Amino acid sequence: MGSPRELESTIADVIFSKGESKISLNDLTSVASPAETRDAIQRLKILGYPLHLSRAGIIERLPFSPIDVKQLSAGLTTERIGRRIEWRLHVRSTQDELKKLTNEIDDGTVLVAETQYAGRGRLKRSWFSAVGGIWMSILLRPTWPRSHQILTLAFAAAAARAIGDVTGLSSVLKWPNDLMIGSRKVAGSLAEATYQGSRLDHLVIGLGVNVNIKTVRFPKTFRKASTSLSHEVGREVDRAQLTKKILEEMDSSYQRFEMGRTSELLDEARRLCSTLGREVRIATSERNFVGHAVGLGDDGQLQVRLRNGAMIPFYAADVVHLR
Ligand code: BTN
Repeated sequence: MGSPRELESTIADVIFSKGESKISLNDLTSVASPAETRDAIQRLKILGYPLHLSRAGIIERLPFSPIDVKQLSAGLTTERIGRRIEWRLHVRSTQDELKKLTNEIDDGTVLVAETQYAGRGRLKRSWFSAVGGIWMSILLRPTWPRSHQILTLAFAAAAARAIGDVTGLSSVLKWPNDLMIGSRKVAGSLAEATYQGSRLDHLVIGLGVNVNIKTVRFPKTFRKASTSLSHEVGREVDRAQLTKKILEEMDSSYQRFEMGRTSELLDEARRLCSTLGREVRIATSERNFVGHAVGLGDDGQLQVRLRNGAMIPFYAADVVHLR
């Protein structure tokens, strides 16, 4: 008998990847009891999978449009990012799934999944990843020896440009990596670095965009602070088109990063950064600070003038906009 998460994956896989449109609870008794299967279906429904379970115990698939990776790859004009794209249905986290391939994949490989059952954000927070979002991770082996913080900021700016281009919506960057529409978060990115001694070996940068997600679907704890593109624009957004545009914009930023054009990337991030010029509360693992966010330094650090006049650079922290 598998774990509840494995069972969800099995059911999602059987129904949505392998093309079975109907399956009976009885067909799954070798993997789980009917009660366990019912629970798994409930969880998949919370994640937005269009499933119906009849009284007679038949699980049925309703129309479902996963991201079509062939369509996505067709005409992708990137140099490095997205030359290889892996697609998965239901994964723990695209970060973990991509890391499993680290030894066999090139710089720029992308892994996209329809849902994540343990998507994660910064500071060990969980990330709700229902059907209808863009959940992807990108493996990078940068050769330019500068802080990857710059790349994270540059990729957030790239995602904002792509969102603007495809939907017409303006989003801003809340330092270090939240894309906001008004006061609600629509996307976030996460960079995880692996070092060989003191040398950066590779980065896995994850991006999550709430695209076609009804806001009532968000768990209560995120609902007030989150939004989706479809909610803001009042229509469904083509996820393949948006993913393609994001990869193209990221590719352009990555090339500029590799050429050393980091001041240009930082200027783009500064223009987009709604944290600058505000009173902020900064929480680090040690303590809280209150001050005025005055700038982004050359490594992407947030420069804050505290009330006592001291200037402090923050490289990683949680920020609340006070005014
Ligand atoms: C944050 O805002 O704290 C970062 C959110 C990052 C979410 C993305 S979704 C794809 C990738 N896989 C994960 O588990 N997390 C990132």
